[in-house]
Amino acid sequence: MGLKTITWEKNKIKIIDQTKLPNSLVYLYINNIKQLQQAIKLLKVRGAPALGAAAALGMYLAVRDSRAKSFKQFSRELEKAARYIGSSRPTARNLFWGIERTCAIALSNSSKTVSEIKNLIFKEAERIVKVDMATCRRIGSYGAALIKKNDSILTVCNAGILATIDYGTALGVIYRAAQLKKNIEVFACETRPLLQGARLTTWELKKNRVPVTLLCDNMAATLMKERRVDKIIAGADRIAANGDTANKIGTYSLAVLARYHRIPFYIAAPVSTFDLDIRDGQGIPIEQRRGYEVTTLFFKKPIAAKGVKVFNPAFDVTPHKLISAIITDRGVIRPPFASNIKRLLKKPKK
Ligand code: MRU
Repeated sequence: MGLKTITWEKNKIKIIDQTKLPNSLVYLYINNIKQLQQAIKLLKVRGAPALGAAAALGMYLAVRDSRAKSFKQFSRELEKAARYIGSSRPTARNLFWGIERTCAIALSNSSKTVSEIKNLIFKEAERIVKVDMATCRRIGSYGAALIKKNDSILTVCNAGILATIDYGTALGVIYRAAQLKKNIEVFACETRPLLQGARLTTWELKKNRVPVTLLCDNMAATLMKERRVDKIIAGADRIAANGDTANKIGTYSLAVLARYHRIPFYIAAPVSTFDLDIRDGQGIPIEQRRGYEVTTLFFKKPIAAKGVKVFNPAFDVTPHKLISAIITDRGVIRPPFASNIKRLLKKPKK
């Protein structure tokens, strides 16, 4: 551990520029919301919980120099910033949650001075950063209880340190299981087209001495057929009220394969990833990205015919029926998901 994906330093948001990994560990300072929006769009900072924290700190960046004379004026500026930051990527619920948390703090303190409210927004953003560290560790502990000694675990994308502040959700479970000396082994899908599995997951697991083997996404079926996978754990970008889960493109196919091969398929996510206003997966907005990422980005020369049409959704939705359990910071949710999600999310926090 020891690595922090996002911190507040020198009056700026400091992030690890994830587009430079695994070759260089480069930090980037973000000083305004235009820079933040670009960093999010380009996936310099990414992963649902990290986006929540970045968005909350971004809300502070947006208003810290405000000269608003009244709360009305100030709240108009906040709304504008919320729309702008919110327009960077549509799928991760946490991004909007981070924005909403800071707006709610402002609203519930509307009788205070603008300067006091700015201060409270900053404190709230800092709290989101801090709480994420504890939240991921709780997910790790609940999840590790599901892991047996010598298990092989398949994962996709990066739901680790780099997708949170410093521990991870799906990889948080893996870190905790490793800490408990369960002698686990990880298989990381490379995660085409942006290669978060190859570039980020293998990098951070190796750094933390967790045995990891990389595979191309289309090799997962063979691995499962050979009985080399005991469990699959993935993160989540948004979970609907019925448990349908949006996560990195390719997660759904792993869940289908898992069902066929009778392998438990788990989602690990904080409660801030749930969106109870969305009844099922059909309502989850799915980001579509540029074809260039598929045809060219990581290659010296384009790998497809010039001008070819490209299908490039960044996420897919795994139907809840294919999910064995959802590991959260408040406990493990099992089917029937709709009622159990409602019950767990309504429970007051301990
Ligand atoms: O496009 P990305 O890299 O932001 O996608 C990230 C994922 O799909 C993660 O699995 C998800 O955000 C959970 S991160 C703890």
